[in-house]
Amino acid sequence: MTDTISKKLESKIDNKLISKAKRSPLEDGFKKGKVVNEVLDKPTVMTLYKMITDHIIAYVNGSISAGKESVLFWGVDENDVNVALKIYLVSTSNFKKREPYIIGDPRFSHLKKGTKNLVYLWARKEFRNLSQCHDAGIPVPKPIYVTNNVLAMEFIGENGAPCKSLLVSDVDENDYNQAISILKDLYHKAKLVHGDFSEYNIFKTNNGLVVFDLGSAVDLRHPNAQEFLKRDIYNITRFFNKRGVPVENSDELFEEIVK
Ligand SMILES: Nc1ncnc2c1ncn2[C@@H]1O[C@H](COP(=O)(O)OP(=O)(O)OP(=O)(O)O)[C@@H](O)[C@H]1O
Ligand SMILES: [Mg+2]
Repeated sequence: MTDTISKKLESKIDNKLISKAKRSPLEDGFKKGKVVNEVLDKPTVMTLYKMITDHIIAYVNGSISAGKESVLFWGVDENDVNVALKIYLVSTSNFKKREPYIIGDPRFSHLKKGTKNLVYLWARKEFRNLSQCHDAGIPVPKPIYVTNNVLAMEFIGENGAPCKSLLVSDVDENDYNQAISILKDLYHKAKLVHGDFSEYNIFKTNNGLVVFDLGSAVDLRHPNAQEFLKRDIYNITRFFNKRGVPVENSDELFEEIVK
């Protein structure tokens, strides 16, 4: 009996989540209509359903990208505005490697152990980091909502296709200057170090660079903040240098930022 109800509910949710799916099958192997139930566990589907009843989104229109620890879905709200849904996968055990980015951050000193807990916390951490950046005027996707392992934010791109990252864009000195100025603003205005600042995590939009993937970002008081900053500077410098853009010396830039 409960089984039938549960089955009915499940199919109702699936229908609701994908009711207006318009997209053709995606390159990454997800077929429309199968997206939700094949990738996500039940609690996550319930969380998405709650986001619909809470009017955060009207429906899920397809997937954007599938990583090992998170998947990105394309949601649409009731005003037909696109929303990016970053869903942290509860089932992945890879979260061990994320611990160093949370433990040591005084904003999360009350941490309880356990993977599920950590996944939920990670989603809240990224939301909080995005909010801190947004409030400081740093170009990031505007955070909209977070609950459990699902983070909703401004969709950067068009028609369900995300904007190109720096990796797959032509870049020039102006982009380099913007990237460095974002790094500086992260440090001085948002009081954060990104922790994964690279060509993979920066969109090049028509209105300039937009930095994203802020799950790893740490408070300046984190014991490894300086080490992470050094790595961020080194990585982005190496990228622009490889692309033939004149760059500042990494160590000097580091000293300039932290002085
Ligand atoms: N706000 C957004 N709007 C549109 N697309 C987005 C947004 N955020 C992320 N994406 C897309 O999803 C991809 C993965 O996002 P993100 O880097 O935040 O997740 P991740 O867990 O680090 O995945 P990966 O391991 O692939 O980097 C991005 O490369 C981008 O194409
Ligand atoms: Mg990323």
